Amino acid sequence: MKNYQNVVVFNHPLIKHKVAILRDEKTSTKEFRELIEEITSLMVYESLKDGVPTVTRTVKTPLETCEQTVIADNAIAIVPILRAGLGMVNGVHTLFPAARVGHIGMYRDEETLEPKEYYCKLPDGIEDKFVLLLDPMLATGGSACDAIALLKKRGCKNIRFMAIIGAPEGLEKVAKTHPDVKIYVSTLDRQLNENGYILPGLGDAGDRLFGTK
Ligand code: PRP
Ligand code: URA
Repeated sequence: MKNYQNVVVFNHPLIKHKVAILRDEKTSTKEFRELIEEITSLMVYESLKDGVPTVTRTVKTPLETCEQTVIADNAIAIVPILRAGLGMVNGVHTLFPAARVGHIGMYRDEETLEPKEYYCKLPDGIEDKFVLLLDPMLATGGSACDAIALLKKRGCKNIRFMAIIGAPEGLEKVAKTHPDVKIYVSTLDRQLNENGYILPGLGDAGDRLFGTK
């Protein structure tokens, strides 16, 4: 895959270690959920590095008063793509509990692999927030592209997309369609299979998170 300015692929031994356990078919639902949260937290540190609105606040220490940089009130919204994106929400909240949460419901048509939107509820004032769109799987890229387009239609200008596993096809599609959106992918996998599943991947993230199959 060619290099894109708006794509960050993590190359960190701790993330690789956790992704390896995540993939394992023997990993339990409980452990799967915990790992998705932990990997998200590790990624959030990097994805909040640039572009987050900050303000200066006066803080009184036991010794003196100083000016400190803090994240502006109500500045961050997280938007999981249902269902599987829900698994990443706590990974952000652990580090930044004040983040508001919106939800976008999408599922892939099993035949066409086209995403279908079925739900959308976003926090008031989302257009002025730093928006972290969350979905563990970036396969064909259709769901991410449509969710980003929906956020843009609602006026969002400062969007980041975070996925745990990406396929080259999907990553390229999102990077090209939305060059103004920075994409953070913990791991870049080899390819999609004929059913649009990522290889080697981890199977169906929603089913593994919620134990539906
Ligand atoms: C999965 C995943 C993404 C989408 C990725 O959701 O969580 O939303 O597929 O595929 P794409 O890049 O080809 O669009 P799915 O449609 O299985 O719905 P679910 O989370 O409700 O199981
Ligand atoms: N959605 C998943 O949950 N897994 C894949 O491999 C592709 C799409």
